[in-house]
Amino acid sequence: MLHLAFDLPTLPEEGALAVTVGSNGVLGAFGLKLDRKTGGALSRAIETSRFKGKKDQTLTLLAPPRLPLSRLILVGIGDPASATEDLFVHAGAATVSALNGAESHAMLVLDSMKNLGLTEAEAASQAALGTQLRAYRFGKYVTKKKDDQKPALKKLILACKEPAAAKTLYARLAPVAHGVTFARDAINEPANVLYPESFAERLTALAKLGIKVDVLDEKALKNLGMNALLGVAQGSARPPCLVSLQWLGDTAAKNKAPVCFVGKGVTFDSGGISLKPSSGMEEMKRDMAGAAAIAGAMAAVAGRKAKANVAAVVGLVENMPSGNAQRPGDIVTSASGQTIEIINTDAEGRLVLADALWYAQKTFKPRCIVDMATLTGAIVMALGHEFAGLFSNDDTLSDQLTRSGKRSGELLWRFPMTEAFDRVMDSSVADMRNTSSAKGAGSITAAQFLQRFIKEGTPWAHLDIAGTAWQEKGKPLCVGGATAFGVRLLDRFIADYAEHA
Ligand code: BES
Ligand code: MN
Ligand code: ZN
Repeated sequence: MLHLAFDLPTLPEEGALAVTVGSNGVLGAFGLKLDRKTGGALSRAIETSRFKGKKDQTLTLLAPPRLPLSRLILVGIGDPASATEDLFVHAGAATVSALNGAESHAMLVLDSMKNLGLTEAEAASQAALGTQLRAYRFGKYVTKKKDDQKPALKKLILACKEPAAAKTLYARLAPVAHGVTFARDAINEPANVLYPESFAERLTALAKLGIKVDVLDEKALKNLGMNALLGVAQGSARPPCLVSLQWLGDTAAKNKAPVCFVGKGVTFDSGGISLKPSSGMEEMKRDMAGAAAIAGAMAAVAGRKAKANVAAVVGLVENMPSGNAQRPGDIVTSASGQTIEIINTDAEGRLVLADALWYAQKTFKPRCIVDMATLTGAIVMALGHEFAGLFSNDDTLSDQLTRSGKRSGELLWRFPMTEAFDRVMDSSVADMRNTSSAKGAGSITAAQFLQRFIKEGTPWAHLDIAGTAWQEKGKPLCVGGATAFGVRLLDRFIADYAEHA
């Protein structure tokens, strides 16, 4: 990860200097000083460009006059009074992006602004998180990159008037950056390297953070009667497993019912006998993004020693066709005792989750459950890559998650769930079918299927992240590839609604 330091604003002797600027190019105290020093170069650059000081906007002055710098970057933060944490995460990310891989050292000054909506130290610590998110790259398999293609940035100094306070605040955010990195690394990894057992090994390494890790192997899953999950894994040469993670951070009440996260961890989804078309199938290596993001959130929560009890369960399987694979028409008995008629072997995520959800409730008796899964292509049709779908049986939990989403910038949009959407999951030969008998509303009917495995009275929410887990072209906070959507959202959710002060 990028090396970060916190310091007072100074004028560096070389390299790049970035400074935050408000809407319409309003300079802060440090920016005004630079403007005077350069004979007005900053204000003239702002006048002659389209730079408006908005979120995600930057303006770069190369070789600025009368300064020893190679580049001076103006970083937009919009209206300082309405500035949020997310905005400064973006400011940090925009700075890294504007450096363009050309600088090894840089300083970002969180310039003093009138009526700033949060403290400078808060702004600096959030910007630090943003620089880490944007600096992430998955480059381990690129062996022939030329030197000038390598990300050059090695060290970034975040400068503000209270660097010590910023550093203290960042100690809470560094584990979040680590959690995101952990999840992105797992999601980006190809399925020949990351399969159920090797994924479980990576999760086991989280024990060093004080997380209790338990791995249930295929034999244990058989003993528990997890035939819905096992049926998906049946066609693969790679045996499945189920991993549970536990963080007991509520030191005053270690027995208090935990919040429980559940994740879909399909390490490769070929579709099985209901084989997917070959075009784009390589994308299905990322069908474990829900499990990865949940593990990343656990790493974040444990890393910052959150005062809350949090448990997580991830079902890890590979969905492959073979002579031994599950067939359409097969009927399996899930661990809950309910039977499922398999209509389409490509609707496998819900089968894995059915048993994982049941296990989570039985084992942890949680106060609420949030599951996360790349569950349906239909959610990409509905929400694109901007929002994840939210489905819930509980308005309070749903509102809390929506708010955590807004605060973290990982947005959720709630869908309806009703009796009528549930009925189409009925089967004439089993308790339910794994795909709807009606056309349309594929994301909702998938959620209805999951709800059949939630005990009456347990607040539950399902997040369908099929559209947000990955960004082909990259986004302000992510160069492209795995986003680790959900890590920051769930960390925020724990901080705001499960932890006491
Ligand atoms: N893993 C897919 C969903 C998916 C699609 C994730 C696109 C990411 C991008 C899931 O297992 C699946 O195949 N769902 C089917 C369900 C259908 C068979 C009812 C789908 O969405 O087509
Ligand atoms: Mn599938
Ligand atoms: Zn899938």
